[in-house]
Amino acid sequence: MKKILALMLAMMMIVCCFAACADDNKGTANETTDPSDAENKEEVLTTVVEGKLTMATNAYFPPYEYYEGDKIIGIDAEIAEKVAEKLGLELEIKDMAFESIITAVTEGSVDMGLAGMTVTDERLESVDFSISYASGVQSIIVKDGSAIKSVDDLYAEGANYKVGVQLGTTGDIYCVDDFGADRVTQYTTGNEAVSALIGGAVDCVIIDNEPAKAFVAANEGLVILDTSYADEDYAACIAKENDALLKAINEAIYDLTEDGTIEAIIAKYIK
Ligand code: ARG
Repeated sequence: MKKILALMLAMMMIVCCFAACADDNKGTANETTDPSDAENKEEVLTTVVEGKLTMATNAYFPPYEYYEGDKIIGIDAEIAEKVAEKLGLELEIKDMAFESIITAVTEGSVDMGLAGMTVTDERLESVDFSISYASGVQSIIVKDGSAIKSVDDLYAEGANYKVGVQLGTTGDIYCVDDFGADRVTQYTTGNEAVSALIGGAVDCVIIDNEPAKAFVAANEGLVILDTSYADEDYAACIAKENDALLKAINEAIYDLTEDGTIEAIIAKYIK
């Protein structure tokens, strides 16, 4: 009798234990679906390499990013340095083709792209953008004395002017839309597009205004037209669902704008 009682007791204990375990499981399951947990997740800032803020750029875009010796300097490089400092991270810059930046961000090999990159609806489908830290204008570079006098000449009925652009930029995307792929030649860097203009392979180059100024200053016989092609906003791109990083970068850019740091950096490079 005692044996049977003991056995029953043991079995009851096992059943209780299973019930408790099942309950525990349910508890955890409930916790992970609790919306307050999403907030907790937001707080944890993780980066691709611990302790570092890895930034992708294309360093042939003065004055935003360019080489001085083997160091990448410029407006974006300096702003990124300040952002990293605010986040308590060390900045590391990876130079790559402009075209590859968004992929590097979405694939998670870098934390953000900062490359004088324009916020566009199409890009917003694959990445998030921070608040804007600068504005840009797509300008038209021609040879001195060119028949192209204003942006209207490019749109004119029967016009067949050839346009050089940097591959994957807004200049590229808009020009292909506006003038058709046949009239647009894509170059890997802005420098190459400008060389093509000098060599006569294209009739104009459409590129962001500040690099345009730098290219014109570095090469004889080029001018920028008074009429511009498009107005844009520059921002950092960050992988979607990386809310903690987006929030931290937005706060940093906001603070650096408020305290005049960004304005001072821009003024240092754009006289
Ligand atoms: N603003 C243009 C765009 O977003 C051109 C940016 C090119 N930047 C660079 N670092 N090469 O498409």
